[in-house]
Amino acid sequence: MTSDSGVFSADHLDAGTKLLLLEAPPLSDTDLTILDVGCGWGPIACVSASRAPASEVWAVDVNDRARALTAKNAEALGLSDRVHVCSPDDVPPDLRFDRILSNPPIRIGKSALHDLLCRWLDLLAPTGVAHLVVQRHLGSDSLAKWLVQRGHRVDRITSRTGYRVLEVGPR
Ligand SMILES: C[S@@+](CC[C@H](N)C(=O)[O-])C[C@H]1O[C@@H](n2cnc3c(N)ncnc32)[C@H](O)[C@@H]1O
Repeated sequence: MTSDSGVFSADHLDAGTKLLLLEAPPLSDTDLTILDVGCGWGPIACVSASRAPASEVWAVDVNDRARALTAKNAEALGLSDRVHVCSPDDVPPDLRFDRILSNPPIRIGKSALHDLLCRWLDLLAPTGVAHLVVQRHLGSDSLAKWLVQRGHRVDRITSRTGYRVLEVGPR
């Protein structure tokens, strides 16, 4: 996979992303529609598509360069027929997701982050689940509390090297 300047963690696989990819429960045959919110250069989307060969993966980002890199990486890996890269508003509105995997953009601020999570978590299928990696010092615990208050089941499945991986169910 290749990366470039102007995107998140341009020169290496982010430690939080790595933890998410190692610690989130394996994708199963029923994870057919997968969403990566904030795809960056595409590590989560591309690894998910290669791990779940029957899946369709939606990779969304507001950053044009990030989307271009994810598309390029999916192409290089032979995954471009199943990795759909688009801006958030271009995701078909009737899609529901079996799995959301995300290293979300915490630094956009609490209110914008909450709006973003509400938008995508409400598109989880009834049996779907989201796995989010969040740095502890950037508010993973208060985020988990807010999600519970919003009516989600939240389990902390991993806590390591300053990161938490949260498992979030639909409301
Ligand atoms: C923490 S980075 C993770 C990038 C990539 N998934 C990775 O693991 O390397 C968060 C990403 O979210 C994107 N982002 C910021 N605001 C967004 C929004 N409202 N909707 C979708 N993506 C957004 C950023 O451009 C950035 O690429």
